[in-house]
Amino acid sequence: MSKYKEIRAALLGAGTVGGGVYKLLQMRKEEMPFKIQADLQISKVLVRDPSKKREGIPADVLTNDWEGIINDPTIQIVIELMGGIEPARTYILQALEAGKHVVTANKDLMAEHGRELMDAANAHRCDLQFEAAVGGGIPIIRPLKECLAGNEITEVMGIVNGTTNYILTRMTEDGMDFEDALKKAQELGFAEADPTSDIEGLDAGRKMAILASIAFHSRVTFQDVDVKGITKITAKDIQYAKEFGYTLKLLGVARNTDRKMEVGVFPMMIPDSHPLANVKDAFNAVFVHGDAVDDAMFQGKGAGEFPTASAVMGDIIAVARNMQYDCCGRIGCSCYKNLPMKEPGESRHRYFIRLIVEDRTGILAGVAGVLGNNNVSISQVIQKPAVSGVAELVVITDKVEKRYLKDALVIFGQMSMIREVASVIRVYSQKK
Ligand code: NAP
Ligand code: HSE
Repeated sequence: MSKYKEIRAALLGAGTVGGGVYKLLQMRKEEMPFKIQADLQISKVLVRDPSKKREGIPADVLTNDWEGIINDPTIQIVIELMGGIEPARTYILQALEAGKHVVTANKDLMAEHGRELMDAANAHRCDLQFEAAVGGGIPIIRPLKECLAGNEITEVMGIVNGTTNYILTRMTEDGMDFEDALKKAQELGFAEADPTSDIEGLDAGRKMAILASIAFHSRVTFQDVDVKGITKITAKDIQYAKEFGYTLKLLGVARNTDRKMEVGVFPMMIPDSHPLANVKDAFNAVFVHGDAVDDAMFQGKGAGEFPTASAVMGDIIAVARNMQYDCCGRIGCSCYKNLPMKEPGESRHRYFIRLIVEDRTGILAGVAGVLGNNNVSISQVIQKPAVSGVAELVVITDKVEKRYLKDALVIFGQMSMIREVASVIRVYSQKK
């Protein structure tokens, strides 16, 4: 019989992440008492179908009876790895109300109901930890809340979706088009059968809402995030990015300048020399700028059984340590400011604009005139030789408020000399 006391936990979900957490806990079982001065036991695992065999998980801990978990006073930690909004939200609220600590990887839930859940944790002096909700195995939430707490953070940028990073890497390195790269991502198991949430930028948008809330101490929800995915990106855009010395990435960008926040997810051309340009395949990375630390980058695997289980385990260990010293709820909600969001039209970026135009004189002057009349200043222009009477004109602008660019694009749409506005993509520039 062990000389250590026992901490009991329940896992909600035994899928990719839940299964990984169960296995990782078994792998570290012998060491746990040295880490947390207690034995940790998963006494129940909630699933929809307890009759289904789960590799590595004994059948007698599987259950579909939530009441049996919530009403079991010996269970002190609930680890929510089911995903989705309901019943996860209700179960977490009930667990906190019952004085149980909670660990979750659920970004959808934290991005939409983070305030409600953090308030409940605070009210019951419980821990609510969610490191795996952003960047899978990359430590980023605890570093922002603890290690970087002395900074004023003004920018958080990240590649926070592995599926889209894999697709864009294949398009860049192998010249694949979007559909083929997506198919390959699905074959390799990166992209889900329904990839909408990844390729439309929704998954990254949720993660950026969570990161911005923590970095800027002011609540941002998914609805506040300006989101654009990668479905319209073509091999040609990527080729042009290369010609200009840029790499195309799906970036989450959160900035806190002029006492207003802006949070967006969009395809962006970043200089090849920027550290994020070299984050390839399904890797994730988060780049943070603070007034004291300057620039810092966190990189690693953003998804998968063990990388995600690594972050969940870190949270479980943190909770168990807090329990031993009776200091749970020590780091709760850190949103003590109420900063306004910038209107999307106010956000300033440089833009790459690719136009399909008629092959005749005066086109460049016409395009430049429209941009100039709408306060859009040109930084670079490339014109490609005409094929079958149409030419391609590519413009990179200086920094401009989105609303001015929008006005210019409306006029382009009405000009007969412009056959098509083929692409409009943001180009990275320094904060100021
Ligand atoms: P998953 O493979 O689909 O597994 C979900 C598990 O939850 C299954 O075991 C399922 O039971 C169970 N479940 C779902 N709804 C339930 C309900 N109403 N009652 C009881 N059990 C229920 O999901 P996952 O990929 O592990 O993701 C879990 C969470 O981690 C999500 O919030 C996700 O966003 C997050 N996350 C995942 C990754 C990743 O790499 N997969 C990375 C970071 C964060 P059955 O098996 O019986 O159906
Ligand atoms: N679907 C996500 C990605 C993993 O591709 O990064 C889960 O957060």
